[in-house]
Amino acid sequence: MSPHTANGAQKITLEIMALLNILNYPDKRLHKVAKPVEQVNDRIRRLVADMAETMYAAPGVGLAATQVDVHERVIVIDVSDAHDQLLAFINPEIVWSSNEKKLSEEGCLSVPGIYDNVERAEKVRVRALNERGETFEMDCEGLLAVCIQHEMDHLMGRVFVEYLSPLKQTRIKSKMKKLAHAM
Ligand code: NI
Repeated sequence: MSPHTANGAQKITLEIMALLNILNYPDKRLHKVAKPVEQVNDRIRRLVADMAETMYAAPGVGLAATQVDVHERVIVIDVSDAHDQLLAFINPEIVWSSNEKKLSEEGCLSVPGIYDNVERAEKVRVRALNERGETFEMDCEGLLAVCIQHEMDHLMGRVFVEYLSPLKQTRIKSKMKKLAHAM
């Protein structure tokens, strides 16, 4: 997910950052289905750290491993105003979702500059592993609920624009191709 307006605050760190390359729609690799993480080890913790740096630098509020061409079930999210509440979800599953749906505007780091309304469950409960390999459950609502559903779609190879009308999708694809050509 990407916020509509970039927050001016920039995270400054002296650590060596590994910014990962984010795939842009309509890259076919965004449609790969991610595999479950077999073991939460240092490689996965490094992936989480690098994904977090990449998300904060973009800036964005969520990033799925699929978007950085790693096809394993890993998501990072931070919907806090201060960008200091990083959440990592490894092998996330939605164990409950509300019948109530809500329409809200979404954006995506893989589809820069495009924002549109998508209907999602208003509340979800997610079960996942944390960076220590421990299972946790979290009740999510508001932006967090939207974000987790958006990022879990990425792990299934789905980009939010696929919920939009075929006409809008065609327009977005041509806009993205022009953008790629201009870079
Ligand atoms: Ni996205």
